[in-house]
Amino acid sequence: MSHIETMSTSSEKPTIFVTRRWPDAAEDALKQYFKPTFNVDDTPLTAAQIAAGFASHDALAPTVSDQITADIIAAGAAGSGRLIANFGVGVNHIDLSAAASAGLAVANTPGVLTDATADLTLTLMLMISRRAGEGERELRAGAWAGWRPTHLMGRSLSGKTLGIIGMGRIGKAVARRAALGFGMNIIFFNRSPVTDITEYDARQVADIDDLCAASDFVSLHCAASKDTFHILNEARLQRMQKHAYVINTARGDVVDEAALVKALNAGSIGGAGLDVFQGEPDIHPDIMSAPNTVLLPHLGSATVETRTAMGLKVVENARAFFAGDDLIDPVV
Ligand code: DGY
Repeated sequence: MSHIETMSTSSEKPTIFVTRRWPDAAEDALKQYFKPTFNVDDTPLTAAQIAAGFASHDALAPTVSDQITADIIAAGAAGSGRLIANFGVGVNHIDLSAAASAGLAVANTPGVLTDATADLTLTLMLMISRRAGEGERELRAGAWAGWRPTHLMGRSLSGKTLGIIGMGRIGKAVARRAALGFGMNIIFFNRSPVTDITEYDARQVADIDDLCAASDFVSLHCAASKDTFHILNEARLQRMQKHAYVINTARGDVVDEAALVKALNAGSIGGAGLDVFQGEPDIHPDIMSAPNTVLLPHLGSATVETRTAMGLKVVENARAFFAGDDLIDPVV
């Protein structure tokens, strides 16, 4: 049973129901302007708990680990809920059309997690291509037989082609690091033309199939939506080169995990570095046992600086909303 606790502050402040704990500095900022209710134990709340919390507060501050369904939204709107201020940029866990129909406002936290997520993308690229996870497991198992010229040889990033699907803020930050820091060639797919890249060469391609065929790394940076569901599907995985890697720091839904497992087991791709999964935090056992993978527990934005900045963004958006101003980061 979760321990939910309302902080006693001035009762004139708007109330906000916060589903998970935040870094201290962000919780302190929230307490300054709002009367927050925290899920003190930080265990996942049930849909009924979130619905009851939203219905009895002016705002709800959920995260990617909560499913904000039409039922929760209806309960909030029927009570005192007016705003969903998401802690995170991705909003695929929120039923946005239900929120819009109920007349609720929705905000998110773009921008502040771009660098952290791009850094983690490069972390996965290096870990999988330099066999870092494999090496660490070997050493910890006491199985390292010593240095030798052929031991755990990986592949360099330099001179390789990185194919980016989704050239928004995070895609561009990854491209910049890969091109300027590691000497990689960049190609990318984006629905609309991208014309503001001046620091490095990057070629926009019209076809994801071509990107998959030409890339040594395929990295996903598109938002999850019905249009991007399984955008990296079996046919596209089959276009990839035998040595090429899939990197996903976006959302589990954008990759067909069953097809990925098949490609990994068949050795038709070189490996995968994954930070996000379908049905998190449950990881499909076939993903766990697939060869040549590096698996991380959704760490993209997990730095103290970034998670604090995300919390402060929620505070800024909620302050603007309750002051009667436009949201800074409106989603709905
Ligand atoms: C986001 O903001 O969407 C992240 O994935 C959560 O850290």
